[in-house]
Amino acid sequence: MTLNSSLPKQLPSDLDVQRLPKHVAVIMDGNGRWAKQRGLPRIVGHRRGVDTLKSLLRCCKDWGVQALTAYAFSTENWGRPLDEVEFLMMLFERVLRRELQEMIDEGVQIHFVGDLEALPLTLQTEIQRAMTATKDNHTIKFIVATNYGGRREIIQACRNIASKVQHNQINLDDIDESLFERHLYTAGIIDPDLLIRTSGEMRVSNFLLWQMAYAELYVTKTLWPDFDRDEFHQALKDFQDRHRRFGKVN
Ligand code: FPP
Repeated sequence: MTLNSSLPKQLPSDLDVQRLPKHVAVIMDGNGRWAKQRGLPRIVGHRRGVDTLKSLLRCCKDWGVQALTAYAFSTENWGRPLDEVEFLMMLFERVLRRELQEMIDEGVQIHFVGDLEALPLTLQTEIQRAMTATKDNHTIKFIVATNYGGRREIIQACRNIASKVQHNQINLDDIDESLFERHLYTAGIIDPDLLIRTSGEMRVSNFLLWQMAYAELYVTKTLWPDFDRDEFHQALKDFQDRHRRFGKVN
């Protein structure tokens, strides 16, 4: 895997540093189609997808984006053929093991969000190791959504809050947006202000349902393995050309 560190590190001059999204989320769609177009097995697309993700993380860091969230595996993805699921679990584990030292050196703080207890134990061990080893890093937050489902996350938060009410730890009146957010997997992480989805599908696919309330959506037909710095530049340009009103009028 290459770091693409030879590419320009500076923010392109047509982007305004003051108006960059603070948190970019990506639905990395199209790995399978990318491979199929080349007559290759789907797993080759996933491998290339990892390279793309790594380059994007590097680019976010270089250009001053504070957080990047990647949708790596949804609660629905267990329905894929067993060999593909097994490959993805092995890939996550291998990538974490291989890239950890570099992420530590680069100041990346890694988080995993999702129902992590259902993942293979060896992967859970690598996840815990990576989160612990990078917890004091502050250059950029890298959040990997793995066995993640937005509806499941919301139900989990409701259960935890209800249990606290039941045990008189909080009152019904204490429940507001701020308390609710503190019970999500993403507690302490700012909401994404830009969601990018590759491969042209116009869907949210159960991703960060609560957190996306005010995110700008950017969909490109480009398949994930081909999503490079130029494509990201385009997405940021599009984001900066939008007028964000948050439901208000000027
Ligand atoms: C969607 O393409 C891609 C995935 C479900 C897997 C994405 C995972 C990675 C790129 C690896 C990330 C690794 C780490 C450690 C974070 P698809 O298979 O749905 O493509 P298709 O729609 O063309 O079939």
